[in-house]
Amino acid sequence: MSTTAIILAGGIGERFNAPVPKQFLEIGGRTLLEICLQRFQDHKGIDAIILVCPKAQLTLAEKIVASGAGAKVLKVLAGGRTRQESSAIGVAAAPSGMENVLIHDAARALVPAGVISRVLEALGSARAVMPVLPAGDTIVRIDDAGVVTAVLDREKLRRVQTPQGFRLETIRRAHDMATSEGIADASDDCSLVLRYKLAPVATVDGDMINIKITYPEDLVMAEALMKGQEHFKGKR
Ligand code: CTP
Ligand code: MG
Repeated sequence: MSTTAIILAGGIGERFNAPVPKQFLEIGGRTLLEICLQRFQDHKGIDAIILVCPKAQLTLAEKIVASGAGAKVLKVLAGGRTRQESSAIGVAAAPSGMENVLIHDAARALVPAGVISRVLEALGSARAVMPVLPAGDTIVRIDDAGVVTAVLDREKLRRVQTPQGFRLETIRRAHDMATSEGIADASDDCSLVLRYKLAPVATVDGDMINIKITYPEDLVMAEALMKGQEHFKGKR
């Protein structure tokens, strides 16, 4: 099946608080965006890529694409005010002939090929798929005063990663419905499919290397994980 990857790099990285959006910071001499693009570029299950960037960094992003990581890139587009809006812009630009889309956070620059493969494979029978990890820590619910009201059953909880995969028509419909309802702040795409009950959302195994770089400490971890990635490759 033909697949377009939408790489969401349209955020400003407020929590990271660097002089440039975090996806333009470097590890090992390459920007996170370039590292991320390369992973989709190199995967044979990905036919085309749409890149969504902040308007202010469009030229910089086009330079990164031209430098070699982006031979499959069809379009570099300016993003929206929220992740959901950027995602909707990417989905609207996906070529209609493609059957599937994968929507990925550029902030998860280290996504291993295995995660992409598992999501693609699951799309053989599912219309919506998310990669997940077990919840390693116990997770509790608290009240407004910070007092614990419940200890959740960790066995039934999962941590959600990207890329999330969809039939193009399913995710188009989800974004259209959200736009007409005036919803713009969904933190991921599967939650829209769930909200409008458009399809069951399947899960596949994520990967601990696939961390989201949110705070400066995450970049230090990403650098160490990238160095270790070759070592872990054969074991997963
Ligand atoms: N994103 C986007 N468009 C937006 C906001 C976010 O494409 N308007 C992208 C980010 O670039 C990132 C992914 O969505 O790759 C996940 O978002 P997050 O980690 O929250 O990144 P930022 O929104 O940039 O960071 P922050 O929330 O700290 O500002
Ligand atoms: Mg954000």
